[in-house]
Amino acid sequence: MFLSPTESSTLGLNFVPPPMVPTHLGAPAIRALLFGFILVVSGASAPLANAQKVELSVDASKSGPKIDRNIFGQFAEHLGHGIYEGIWVGPDSTIPNTRGIRNDVVQALRAIRVPNVRWPGGCFADEYHWRNGIGNPRTVTLNPNWGGVIEPNSVGTHEFMDFLDQIGAEAYVSVNVGSGTPREAAEWLEYLTTAQPTTLAKERSANGHPGPYKIGFLGIGNESWDCGGNMTPDYYLSQLKIYSRFVRNFNPAQQDKQQMLKIAVGPGGGETRWTEWTETIMKAYQQHTWSWDINGLSMHSYTVGKWPPSYASENFGETEYSQFLKFTLAMDDLVTKHSAIMDKYDPEKKVALVVDEWGAWYAPLPGSNPGFLVQQNSLRDAILAALNLNIFARHADRVRMANIAQMINVLQAMILTDKEKMVLTPTYYVYKMYVPFQDSTFVPVTFDAGTHTHGDITLPRVDAIAAKDATGKLWLAITNIDPDRVVEIEANLAGITAKSAMGETLTAPKVDSVNTFGAPNTVMPKSVPANIQGGKLVVKLDPKSVTVISVE
Ligand code: AHR
Repeated sequence: MFLSPTESSTLGLNFVPPPMVPTHLGAPAIRALLFGFILVVSGASAPLANAQKVELSVDASKSGPKIDRNIFGQFAEHLGHGIYEGIWVGPDSTIPNTRGIRNDVVQALRAIRVPNVRWPGGCFADEYHWRNGIGNPRTVTLNPNWGGVIEPNSVGTHEFMDFLDQIGAEAYVSVNVGSGTPREAAEWLEYLTTAQPTTLAKERSANGHPGPYKIGFLGIGNESWDCGGNMTPDYYLSQLKIYSRFVRNFNPAQQDKQQMLKIAVGPGGGETRWTEWTETIMKAYQQHTWSWDINGLSMHSYTVGKWPPSYASENFGETEYSQFLKFTLAMDDLVTKHSAIMDKYDPEKKVALVVDEWGAWYAPLPGSNPGFLVQQNSLRDAILAALNLNIFARHADRVRMANIAQMINVLQAMILTDKEKMVLTPTYYVYKMYVPFQDSTFVPVTFDAGTHTHGDITLPRVDAIAAKDATGKLWLAITNIDPDRVVEIEANLAGITAKSAMGETLTAPKVDSVNTFGAPNTVMPKSVPANIQGGKLVVKLDPKSVTVISVE
């Protein structure tokens, strides 16, 4: 086994909420204040005997912060089949590829407009030495974190940047603070970004890329409180200052505009250990001098339930469905808690809270290498993703970036592959449906969601966000958590003269429905009738569904 129970804190799992923490929504009055939707839950109405009628209000003339497209970011670590097989098959493969990168995966990722990809880890990043991944032949090393397998280094700097170019995403590069040096990281950034004819730039050119690369984001270490070197906050802070000072981006196009954003390691939970970490970094930030700076503070929070991960990712029932959604809603408390600390030292919200590892973490699939973190992806995961994206959107003033773990074949993936086969997961479809929310403007709303109760678990029945895109079109994303009952939405629309509405919904026969290589279309979006009647939006939401509606 790659992990023992005592290593659980390495993975940032101290934050796992007890099963009965209150939901993130709190009292109805607070919900109303926060969300601005007004949902009145009344009894059943014919002809949908089991349906719940919900009245909802949106005022499109009111604007909140921008929902940064980077909250839809991805994470691709050298772990299991995330990179090798998932992205990289090599130029000689019979699987259709462009310079070794599989075409089917690129095409699928382009469709969800991936804004950025975090690479090469994770824990892997703090053992990664970039020189092993350039030139020919490549140095063959090991991957001690993830199964102890051979790391061929076939995917290195150039292959990763080519992949980003093919999918149209920005680079979020995590440099090695744990076992590397500031000099190693500084030289990597010079290699990547300088336009001047230095020895490193000439080497980059000889390796096929004469021009400088654009690096959007720099991660300074990963989980430095555990797998990244088990540092104290003060020790990490001293490292952070050094890396922030010396690891420079020289790309001429990124000096005045489009500057690389530096992201410090932040908390992995809500306990004192983590609040102290955030306090330490943010207090230092408040007093920082010209010689160092940060633009983001990372936060990791998986929905895992218990450690080691032992909940099944497939073949589960409504109890586990309700439990996991309950667990995941604790994300709101966590974001709120760390945002409040950040507000003390950075009231202008210059530093983003970057949730760069999140998602569901289940038991490894039977028969898989436990170090490869292979799991299925069900309708439950789609709903879990929507709930988290909604939380990030509601905190858009502080949460300006997030990266789901992980993009392909690992944890809560967008895509699963098996040799030449590829299947898109329910989570993928949520990302696709949410594309219009990228860089949209949050519409502040209030609502009372009602409740769904399963045994001793109580959840909000409905969750919703609204936003305006650049053309002024209004978008609503509404999740019906209730696995059994239809919700009839009647939305009062202020601030917009609504003429028409269109919707897409994602649901499936069961809470544990999945897409497989043999049956890839079980959980797929389909259009849903949405009407404007007397200026109101009227739509019926299937049980256990995610629906996105546009109103013009
Ligand atoms: O995503 C898997 C691992 O979880 C990452 O490598 C690490 O940062 C986290 O603990």
